[in-house]
Amino acid sequence: MQFRESVREFSSRPVQDGAEWDRFTRMFQYLRANLEDPIHGYAELKRVLGSLRSSQQPGDAQDGERDMAVIFYLAVPAHLFNPIVQGLAQQGLHLEGECSPRRIVFEKPFGHDLASARDLNRKVRQVFEEEQIYRIDHYLGKEMIQNIIVIRFANAFLEPIWNSRYIDHVQITSAETDGVGDRGDYYDKAGALRDMVQNHMCQLLTMVAMEPPSSLETERVRDEKVKVLRSLRKLSPQEITRYVIRGQYGPGVVNGEEVPGYRGEPEVDQASNTETFVAMKVYIDNFRWAGVPFYIRTGKRLPVRSTEVVVEFRTLPEVLYFKEYRGLQPNILVIKVQPEEGVFLQFNAKKPGQAGFIAPVRMDFCQNCAVGFNSPEAYERLLMEVIRGDRTLFTRWDEVEEAWKFVEPIINYWRGSAGKPRFPNYAAGEWGPKEAEELLRRDGRTWYDGWTRCELWRKGQNGTPGRTGPTPD
Ligand code: BG6
Repeated sequence: MQFRESVREFSSRPVQDGAEWDRFTRMFQYLRANLEDPIHGYAELKRVLGSLRSSQQPGDAQDGERDMAVIFYLAVPAHLFNPIVQGLAQQGLHLEGECSPRRIVFEKPFGHDLASARDLNRKVRQVFEEEQIYRIDHYLGKEMIQNIIVIRFANAFLEPIWNSRYIDHVQITSAETDGVGDRGDYYDKAGALRDMVQNHMCQLLTMVAMEPPSSLETERVRDEKVKVLRSLRKLSPQEITRYVIRGQYGPGVVNGEEVPGYRGEPEVDQASNTETFVAMKVYIDNFRWAGVPFYIRTGKRLPVRSTEVVVEFRTLPEVLYFKEYRGLQPNILVIKVQPEEGVFLQFNAKKPGQAGFIAPVRMDFCQNCAVGFNSPEAYERLLMEVIRGDRTLFTRWDEVEEAWKFVEPIINYWRGSAGKPRFPNYAAGEWGPKEAEELLRRDGRTWYDGWTRCELWRKGQNGTPGRTGPTPD
């Protein structure tokens, strides 16, 4: 019953009762067990898997093969990862047959910090080979995040200028309007840095900054991503104070509705100092990106839901138009990840009919505007890849480890720091604390809210354009 209701509620396609539904539900079995009991549940699981195999009809498997792939998908609190792995191992459920692969999928968080991630990985690797392990970062399943490397490496006009010589800076924003909902217990121990930056934001950054891989094979792509993480400048305590801003939302108004502050959310400590917003300036110390700031920002209860990458190109020397028209807008490329998927490019052109008047114009490609277009959800794609046995869209251990190495000094500094901000320091519905604006203002820049800002304009709310802001339609 619960199953049927969930499918009805969340399926992107209408669900019909009848033969198709019956056939679908016959494929499911539910086994209830205590995951921390090392024996009983796992022995029972082994028995069920054995009976499934013997009841398999010839023709269910390819080429008459009677074996089957087994995928263990761990969407459970992180402290259960190891007990489950050990329970599976005790029953030999990790052992692969020639035609019966065993795969294990881990939802995040993979560890709580560098030490716990290493410890977990060591224990998992005593049982499973790296090739059997799928660490999910659902951002890698998003259409436009995969598209980033296509846009970069399949366009002759972009790759030659994708470097510090032509790019002034990059902004990566993942803004959410939601609060923590019913995940207060988990989130209050995690915070935005662990929940979003260590994984999703780092993955986005690697896609934007990686070198072209020698081939599109899984390991070659991962090799390049991990190099970016290794080149991320580790921040000193002084740099953390200056370049990493944290915030927590108080009560406010989002989408016209009054919402409680973070400390008033279910299962959140009423005096919590957990951050729900992070903005930071980072540098990638390699040949391509030396000196180019990457500004990263993510938070809950922000004014709009929007994930996007904004690449601002350098302006030209101050001659000709750049001399005459002070304040000429820079060229900007925006990769819109969600909710709208697409790309837009802003450039300067003469305003028709008005001699001597130059204005920024946009070429806008909206990928999901086409009627009938229905790209798979990130999870649909990722689960399909697990079934197929393709690990390209999953994170390799060294990626996870390097990302923890990057955020670890920040975690440690925040844990001990005397200079804790007074939370809450932004109202729900605002773009984080004022220090986040200040972070860019000090560099003579402003956050570029891209199409998001245009959305605000359309809704008649206040979206003041910054120096680098686009012209609204
Ligand atoms: C999850 C985080 O991994 O990603 C959530 O745990 C966050 O806190 C979510 O809300 C964001 O995902 P998306 O796909 O909505 O951007």
